[in-house]
Amino acid sequence: MFKIVTIFVSLMVLSSSAWAADMQGKALFNNNCASCHAMDGKGSKMGLKLKPFPARDLTALAATVQRDELRRIISGGIQGTAMTPKKYDLDALEIEYVIDYILGFKRTVNLANGKKRFSKVCVSCHGMDGRSQTGMGAKNLVYSKLSLADTVHTIRYGRAGTKMTSKRHQLNNADIEDVANYVHGLRYQHNLKKGAELYASTCKSCHKSPSTIKLQGNAAAKKSMSDLSDYVLDLRIRHGRHVARSNKQVQHLSDDDTRDIIAYLRQETK
Ligand code: HEC
Ligand code: HEC
Ligand code: HEC
Repeated sequence: MFKIVTIFVSLMVLSSSAWAADMQGKALFNNNCASCHAMDGKGSKMGLKLKPFPARDLTALAATVQRDELRRIISGGIQGTAMTPKKYDLDALEIEYVIDYILGFKRTVNLANGKKRFSKVCVSCHGMDGRSQTGMGAKNLVYSKLSLADTVHTIRYGRAGTKMTSKRHQLNNADIEDVANYVHGLRYQHNLKKGAELYASTCKSCHKSPSTIKLQGNAAAKKSMSDLSDYVLDLRIRHGRHVARSNKQVQHLSDDDTRDIIAYLRQETK
């Protein structure tokens, strides 16, 4: 009985302190942020007119931007903009409450808008199909393994030293979230059935089954197929010595064919 009462009381305390934190986040946001960002996070009239850059829509960050990054921006600010460092106004715990408030924002992704932006801002390098056969040396987005958050991070900040520059001032946050989701929708979905057929027609004559394939070289000692990324497996199958070993039977395989075969290999060697 005593135990039950203790549990009940601690639950009450926990939920009421969570509630208090929620209220605190809201109040802190109201006092420190809403003048520019508005309580709904979409930007106040004044905030949207700020120079050189307007306040950004925070609702489009909730699903895609990591807590660490929000913490860094809020405490350190963004140099050269009206977003001054808040570490002098809020203590560390208060910043966490404010982040909780921001992470509570909801926004509906608009894929049609994502497609529109992609065709304007990304297509010259990545191509409309995302396969980047444009001669610009961009990454093939169809086989990208990045999480949604990492995709958003790449779009926001670019990749130093490459043609993939930051798109943060070319696109607003809603556009970035939409484009990232659109790009994920372009990903190639491997076809296991086709993979099995291709294996039978191209590989089976030498490798009776996927589990009989022996990895070579420094991969052989400890590694199994599941330790190798799709990229590395593709290299080992379609490039280098294996092309000669396989009597060049693997050379005609397309990128998608290889993805299908790899998916089949992984299933069979799990
Ligand atoms: C005086 C206006 C002003 C106030 C007050 C303000 N901000 Fe900002 N904030 C901005 C502006 C302007 C930007 C965009 C800067 C840029 O484009 O780099 C911004 C950007 C941000 C960003 C980054 C958005 C992005 O997409 O990179 C976050 C997060 C943010 N603010 C959170 C807050 C929080 C939390 C508070 C309150 C603790 C706050 N801001 C208070 C003006 C303000
Ligand atoms: C001027 C050419 C160019 C434009 C325009 C461009 N990119 Fe890129 N993108 C690149 C290059 C080059 C890379 C490879 C960077 C590297 O080597 O890491 C890349 C890499 C990426 C990656 C990383 C993929 C991965 O798996 O590592 C993503 C995601 C991406 N781009 C998305 C976009 C989106 C979305 C747009 C439009 C908003 C865009 N890019 C516009 C050239 C471009
Ligand atoms: C004409 C024979 C032949 C064909 C066809 C063939 N291979 Fe191979 N493969 C070899 C030989 C020989 C090796 C070297 C290892 C061994 O003896 O098992 C090898 C090695 C491999 C390795 C390990 C490579 C490394 O570097 O660790 C993989 C993975 C592989 N094959 C996959 C495939 C796949 C997938 C196909 C079908 C698309 C295929 N092979 C078709 C002969 C063949």
